[in-house]
Amino acid sequence: DKQQVTDTRNRPLRDLRISVIDRCNFRCTYCMPKEIFGDDYPFMTEKELLSFDDIETLARSFTMLGVEKLRITGGEPLLRKDLPTLIEKLSSLPGIKDTALTTNGVFLVKQAEALKQAGLDRVNISLDAVTEHIFQKMNGRNMKPRAVLNGIEAAQEAGLGVKVNMVVQRGANDEDILPMARYFKEQGVTLRFIEYMDVGTSNGWNFTDVVPKKEIYEKLTGLAPLHPVEDAYFGEVANRYRYDGTDTEVGFISSVSDTFCSSCTRARISADGRLYTCLFAEDGHDLRPFLGEEPDTAGLEDRLSSIWQLRSDRYSEERTEETVRNRRKIEMSYIGG
Ligand code: GTP
Ligand code: 5AD
Ligand code: SF4
Ligand code: SF4
Repeated sequence: DKQQVTDTRNRPLRDLRISVIDRCNFRCTYCMPKEIFGDDYPFMTEKELLSFDDIETLARSFTMLGVEKLRITGGEPLLRKDLPTLIEKLSSLPGIKDTALTTNGVFLVKQAEALKQAGLDRVNISLDAVTEHIFQKMNGRNMKPRAVLNGIEAAQEAGLGVKVNMVVQRGANDEDILPMARYFKEQGVTLRFIEYMDVGTSNGWNFTDVVPKKEIYEKLTGLAPLHPVEDAYFGEVANRYRYDGTDTEVGFISSVSDTFCSSCTRARISADGRLYTCLFAEDGHDLRPFLGEEPDTAGLEDRLSSIWQLRSDRYSEERTEETVRNRRKIEMSYIGG
């Protein structure tokens, strides 16, 4: 039977973020720096990845506890073989109102149409700069913005909802804030500025690398006055605004300067089947024992429910110099953001 679980801070479980692969065709300096994610990096083997049936079993059980939104992540999720087959299973689950994907966009040119056909509602596409040399340096693979813009256009043509994510890192791409804003305002596409976070332990994060929302907001008012827009759903991560005289929105994900843990309704699953109750969790819960040929769905639902009821995470509210340096956090490419 359906139940609505809440955690120790009275937060319901609403969203499930599912990582389907830990590999990526990019090497963004803030996420998978080349020096660490090199040729000999121990990525998951094919055998370690959950099967599509495993993922479906998990998602179905989560819907029994209140999950309505699914997001597929990676690494780069479009590197997972046959992804539309999984999307088809997931988007048709009873209780699922929204199925989305977070991607670097390059493979959308080939896959957008099939993903839409499979029932995908929308995509969030990461693009950190429109200026060639800035983007080429940041993605670690010398990839030009055009490759991603082509993906954005393919997604639009396929009828998928599209938002663009820009992680802003001081000294790396903050010069491109206005060029990005201008470009996507012109295109009528929602751009979200993301404060760079101390995810994982390999990006050498520092408080001074963060460009706070307020600073970006003030730059944007040079383009047009901004009007706040109501949250689309409880616990929406982005604060949204509309440019005066247009229907185009722009958003801020300010998880450093203005935290949103108090309304965090998200659970995360790694590609090898561990459940994390926070992006900054040190440990996950292995769900594999409940999966496989003969899944134990009753046992799984009990386990998920008790994990969520004990949840007390609020990392972004607790962040200090000390936690930044000494916490043993999981990598972004492992958990998908
Ligand atoms: P929608 O609002 O549903 O479109 O998606 P989203 O913004 O939640 O997901 P997306 O994958 O596009 O993530 C955008 C940014 O928000 C990434 O940098 C994520 O790491 C960050 N983010 C998403 N959820 C959380 C969260 O629970 N905590 C923190 N600290 N950051 C989050
Ligand atoms: N801080 C903020 N956002 C990040 N992302 C990856 N690493 C970080 C970080 N350290 C973003 C990606 C993608 C989303 C899933 O998370 O660019 O848009
Ligand atoms: Fe890949 Fe996204 Fe990480 Fe860049 S931020 S390395 S595109 S997973
Ligand atoms: Fe949720 Fe953890 Fe992010 Fe806070 S830091 S919003 S608890 S995932």
